[in-house]
Amino acid sequence: MEIKITRASTLKEKPDSSTLVFGKAMTDHMFIVDYDAGQGWHDPRIIPYGPLQIDPAAKVLHYGEEIFEGLKAYRTADGSIQLFRPRDNIARMNHSAQRLCLPQIPEDLALAGITKLVEVEQDWVPHEKDTSLYIRPFMIGLDAALGVHSSKHVQYIVVVCPVGAYYPEGLNPVKIYVEEQDVRAVKGGMGMAKTGGNYAASLRAGDLAEKAGYSQVLWLDGVHRKYIEEVGSMNVMFKVAGKILTPDLNGSVLDGITRRSCIQLLKDWGYEVEERRISAEELFAAAEAGTLEEAWGTGTAAVVSPIGELAMGDKKVTVSHNQIGEITQKLYDELTGIQWGRTADPHGWIMKL
Ligand code: COI
Repeated sequence: MEIKITRASTLKEKPDSSTLVFGKAMTDHMFIVDYDAGQGWHDPRIIPYGPLQIDPAAKVLHYGEEIFEGLKAYRTADGSIQLFRPRDNIARMNHSAQRLCLPQIPEDLALAGITKLVEVEQDWVPHEKDTSLYIRPFMIGLDAALGVHSSKHVQYIVVVCPVGAYYPEGLNPVKIYVEEQDVRAVKGGMGMAKTGGNYAASLRAGDLAEKAGYSQVLWLDGVHRKYIEEVGSMNVMFKVAGKILTPDLNGSVLDGITRRSCIQLLKDWGYEVEERRISAEELFAAAEAGTLEEAWGTGTAAVVSPIGELAMGDKKVTVSHNQIGEITQKLYDELTGIQWGRTADPHGWIMKL
């Protein structure tokens, strides 16, 4: 399908790459393709970035019929641009689509929307160290009717924005609070889908944690309220007595692409990685016994983010002396090395534009 391009008549001033705030500086254009049941996907186009015109009765506005992805375009030393595992994002989007009764999008069409838009916005891919162009593809159900049914009219949209570090702390350790009241997701719910509702469910606990001086919350499972699932916008990993532990993909945990990549790298380096149920109790007991050596979060936006403090109720433990741990740093260096083209890419994760 040919993508029709309509260029913006005036271009925005680009922000200073050294002071970027995550997700605020949207670029000049966006990609949209429509879907209608019986017709399929049609009219792919790149148009000037601007407000969408949505019927106030559209399903997405009332019932959260929405899924999204997050990936990045990286500027390499020779000035070229590359993506990291973009097909994995599209596969995950189609997996999320199944859960929310949204249509499957052909991988090549979803990818063409991303690559063409990045090409049009190539001057927006920043050059400064640790900056990139964040890519946010999303799909919304647009049927204008208040009955609770899946939409027959849907759009897949891609917007992009230059970004620096997700957390203001940068690579300094973040403080995480174990949430015991609210839950993010339950098995059989939508936890494994990347859908706005999961993030809406996280806002109250996130706000309270922030007021108490924490960056994010660590979610416990919704049934036993005991086992660790993920952190606000990241998957989570621990090094305990030399072994790497991470919650298994039990249906309510997001199958993170950075998580997947870190597990592969850790295995390449000979670490034993256990994907299993981990109780908060086990973690705090390890901290007290001195065997909780490192903790970190993984995510596209946050990359690899060290955790320096964990709190639960009135218990508080410092991890790795509130410094970035050795493995956390090694993972960050290796992953960002591959993403920005400074290191070899043995697993074929990079797609050059
Ligand atoms: C990402 O890491 O790309 C995410 O989607 C997290 C986001 C909610 C900031």
